[in-house]
Amino acid sequence: MQSAIKIDHLYFRYDKEYVLEDISATITDNEYIAIIGPNGGGKSTFVKLLLGLLTPTKGKIEIYNTTPDKSRELIGYLPQNIHFNLDIPLQAREVILQGRLSAKKRGFSDKDFQILESLAQNLHIAHLLDKKIGELSGGERQRVLLARALATKPKILILDEPTAAVDFKTQKEIYQLLQELNLTKIVVSHDINILLQGVDRVFYINRKLYIHEYIDIDIKPKEGHFCEMELFEQLGGEHACNH
Ligand SMILES: Nc1ncnc2c1ncn2[C@@H]1O[C@H](COP(=O)(O)OP(=O)(O)OP(=O)(O)O)[C@@H](O)[C@H]1O
Ligand SMILES: [Mg+2]
Repeated sequence: MQSAIKIDHLYFRYDKEYVLEDISATITDNEYIAIIGPNGGGKSTFVKLLLGLLTPTKGKIEIYNTTPDKSRELIGYLPQNIHFNLDIPLQAREVILQGRLSAKKRGFSDKDFQILESLAQNLHIAHLLDKKIGELSGGERQRVLLARALATKPKILILDEPTAAVDFKTQKEIYQLLQELNLTKIVVSHDINILLQGVDRVFYINRKLYIHEYIDIDIKPKEGHFCEMELFEQLGGEHACNH
């Protein structure tokens, strides 16, 4: 199987202390990885290294056999805290089409509009395209931003907490959508719902990386919530809880 991402003895620090330490992993083409872990554990930092927004202090990352900074157009990304000026009178369709803009190009082609239409169908947002982005609910807006990330036709989709501000039902819907998408997916989440919906492996990041290959658990969420520490107890990941 072709590898999408190879991470080899990766270390990273912003200042003195390492935030990520000795991380090695290979992610195969079309794999679906969930990244979980405590606040400050290094998940967003890890994702920014994959995107080439940060450079490893030590070690190496390869994305489809090249460096992250050379493979940016292969990755669709939805950051954790997207600061969107909701007063800007942009329609949802314009926000999605921004994903089709590139430095080389002015204006949009028929293909751009076809991609917009098919994403709108697949993500169930066709009825929202004419609405202003500021008028959408949190869950609707996340779907539009997901469409924008996919509009680049990436080989890898990286989402950092895509469901942080949406209700339980919308979380489930978004994860259902993600399950249906056929590309390499890396999704950071505190929401245990993700683990129930088609994930191949779970990466628990807390300075170090702990990989869980199989997810075979009997989860009975209380009022839709399930602590990830409880989950790791069930997974037998005692090392993951103690760091
Ligand atoms: N730009 C920065 N400069 C210095 N330290 C940073 C910077 N960004 C993050 N850190 C630190 O790096 C560590 C990891 O942060 P990171 O944002 O990667 O965690 P996270 O796992 O994404 O957390 P959360 O679940 O809260 O999103 C934290 O201790 C944080 O304070
Ligand atoms: Mg984060």
